[in-house]
Amino acid sequence: MLSNKTILVGITGGIAAYKICELIRRFKKNGANVKVVCTPNALNFVTKLTLQNLSQNEVYVEEFEVKEWKPEHISLADEADIMVIAPATANTISKIACGIADNLLTSIACAFRKKMIIAPAMNCNMWNNPGVKENIRVLKARGVEILEPESGFLACGYMGKGRLCGVDKIYDAVCEGLNYSQKLKGKKVVITSGGTIEDIDPVRYISNYSSGKMGFALASSAKQMGAEVVLITTKEIEAPYKIVKVKSALDMQKALDEEFDSSDIVIMAAAVADYRVKEVSPQKMKKGVNEELTLELVKNPDILKGLCEKKTHQCIIGFCAESENLIENAKEKITKKGCDYLIANDISRNDIGFGSEDNEVVILDKNGGMKRLEKASKSVIACQILEAVY
Ligand code: C5P
Repeated sequence: MLSNKTILVGITGGIAAYKICELIRRFKKNGANVKVVCTPNALNFVTKLTLQNLSQNEVYVEEFEVKEWKPEHISLADEADIMVIAPATANTISKIACGIADNLLTSIACAFRKKMIIAPAMNCNMWNNPGVKENIRVLKARGVEILEPESGFLACGYMGKGRLCGVDKIYDAVCEGLNYSQKLKGKKVVITSGGTIEDIDPVRYISNYSSGKMGFALASSAKQMGAEVVLITTKEIEAPYKIVKVKSALDMQKALDEEFDSSDIVIMAAAVADYRVKEVSPQKMKKGVNEELTLELVKNPDILKGLCEKKTHQCIIGFCAESENLIENAKEKITKKGCDYLIANDISRNDIGFGSEDNEVVILDKNGGMKRLEKASKSVIACQILEAVY
């Protein structure tokens, strides 16, 4: 699966370094050429000999041990198809974010132009340090994929967030990163995400539990497949593509109308409120003497249906979240809305869907075809959806 691919594995000085031996073994087992670069501190936790045996290659630590005319940090950066740094310490993360190149690993990272994945691991107080947080934000905004650490018992004795994410997760992210085709190059993909917010008065609103994660995953997969991406969202996010922040269903409709004509693919992953308050109170509503309060609601436009009615060349994909009779309801909905594809989600399960990191969906097409995607992370599902629909 990974043959003809060169994976550059960066290891920094954290106790989780020993887990990377297993990761290297899996890369090798699947045919990859693995090059390992360690910071000097990493060798306090794993030996050069172990890494050399597992990767079946020389292990690089020091700069300026030049054997060829090209400096190592440039040739290693040029040669690799992907770079994964795991575990990444607060120190190395912060240096990379600032462009500091004071050892071989950070020099390579500074020169690296392809996909980079960073899996941080550190004490929970270090992870929560505002400087580290800011540097993580900077890296994410530059398109570096951050595999967030997990919560649990830490080697330092603390309980909290900071443990290296699972080796499986790192392995999947690398495979995914390597297998992205550039099939969406030259295409404009517009994606909506998050639950809309319908004001009641200046301090209260009606919304839903949508986290926006599925839409974010679709946006980042589309970007990696070479598309020009516009994400219209109700959630706060920083990302290396255009983001249009909206609040209500009407705002979302307006933003979509502006992007629609020039788009090639539209994915409505947002959970749009079906109703909004008829008259939003300009002042905070006071608690009355009555035991009951009735809010009058009016129907929001069905944005997806409206876009399908006016489409010219666009491929339009809707989502449907159902708590019962998933396929039956989805079949009815794809006809009613008139979209090209409908991604059906079963929200009665609490291991997938709303707020969860994972999803399991069925893709329906307008000709009656159906494809079930097995449970996987939202980013894997996003990639599979884009591969399937375009
Ligand atoms: O009808 P239902 O809400 O189940 O349809 C879900 C799909 O329709 C989603 O893709 C959602 O983004 C979209 N939708 C919409 N406008 C609405 C309600 C839902 O575009 N008012």
